[in-house]
Amino acid sequence: MVTLHVNASTPYDVTIERGDAWLDRVPYFSCSTVWVVTDETVDRLHGSAFRDRLAHKHRNVVWSVVRPGDGSKSLDTIERLVTDGLTGGCDRDTLVVAFGGGMVGDLAGFLASIYMRGVRYIQVPTTILAHDSAVGGKVAVNHPLAKNAIGAFYQPAGVHYNVNRLETLSARDVLSGLGELIKHAYLSRYVLGHSFETELFTALAQGPLDWETWLARGIEVKRLVVEADEREQGVRAWLNFGHTFGHALESAEAYQLSHGEAILYGMVYAFLVSGDEKRAETLASFMRREGITTVNWQSFDTYLAGMGHDKKNRDGQIRFVLLGAEVTVASVTAERLTGAFHQMKGWF
Ligand SMILES: NC(=O)c1ccc[n+]([C@@H]2O[C@H](COP(=O)([O-])OP(=O)(O)OC[C@H]3O[C@@H](n4cnc5c(N)ncnc54)[C@H](O)[C@@H]3O)[C@@H](O)[C@H]2O)c1
Repeated sequence: MVTLHVNASTPYDVTIERGDAWLDRVPYFSCSTVWVVTDETVDRLHGSAFRDRLAHKHRNVVWSVVRPGDGSKSLDTIERLVTDGLTGGCDRDTLVVAFGGGMVGDLAGFLASIYMRGVRYIQVPTTILAHDSAVGGKVAVNHPLAKNAIGAFYQPAGVHYNVNRLETLSARDVLSGLGELIKHAYLSRYVLGHSFETELFTALAQGPLDWETWLARGIEVKRLVVEADEREQGVRAWLNFGHTFGHALESAEAYQLSHGEAILYGMVYAFLVSGDEKRAETLASFMRREGITTVNWQSFDTYLAGMGHDKKNRDGQIRFVLLGAEVTVASVTAERLTGAFHQMKGWF
């Protein structure tokens, strides 16, 4: 078992282990009700085993299930969940449990932040990608015009991974989760002072990763960044590496690409924009080898318009997180933007 302590405004522990022994260690269950929010897939695969374990911890468990996919991250779902909570007797002393991937984590975390003006919640992540999303307290639902447009900073009381649950993930969701882990590997050099980039690519070439070790390494990067800048006034923007083009691609593909897949493409693009062709090529080869979902490329203007909505932009200039001798957040010339796009398109 690995434990990491996140020294946020409200501190909490992240545990990563094989199994759910954390349930016997944590102090949360003196609450009035435990309210689990999950999606249909996680419920089908892992719901009954988790429910049985929880039944030994608490008499009152309310269980809400939403449809899988980002379409459920909406205010409509929040309203339906609030109905579940009210009819299920959830009061201010309720503990919300986000049991699922990043979608459920963002949705249930946002629910906890507004239900009766805020109740406690914990994250029980079931995807690799969620090693990123479950830590740091960013919670949100989408608006039809923009992803994550309605949200809050609201830290969980704990994050508890049972890595056995990752065994049922599809190959596509594994690759998507690797997107954020690879991002943390690229950032490790700047955040930790030593890089685990080469080590990660070597481990990936050798076969399946030992998730207890590798999720902890990714979370270590995220933890340090969040501790330094919980509300994204400065260095937390680094975590946005690959997201400028990634988000534009995700929306142009009408969310047919998963978040992590879009970020993988976005990181190739960001390396090309910063002139680091070698790392762009290495990452692109990895993605092709892993069979990443292909993109129906549209005209560059489509992505340019998407990048125009990025939250890092200033004075109408599109800004990127660029990794060089140090991390910079800077705008680049239109020529470079177009050149990088055509080069990347040729690779996939
Ligand atoms: N809050 C943050 O800081 C942050 C950071 C990155 C991403 N996100 C958000 O995270 C979401 C993406 O997360 P995700 O990739 O985990 O998506 P997800 O939660 O939609 O899960 C992906 C798919 O995997 C299924 N699934 C989950 N666990 C499973 C398991 N153990 N076995 C089999 N299938 C399983 C889900 O049902 C879903 O179909 C997006 O909404 C994104 O905006 C948030």
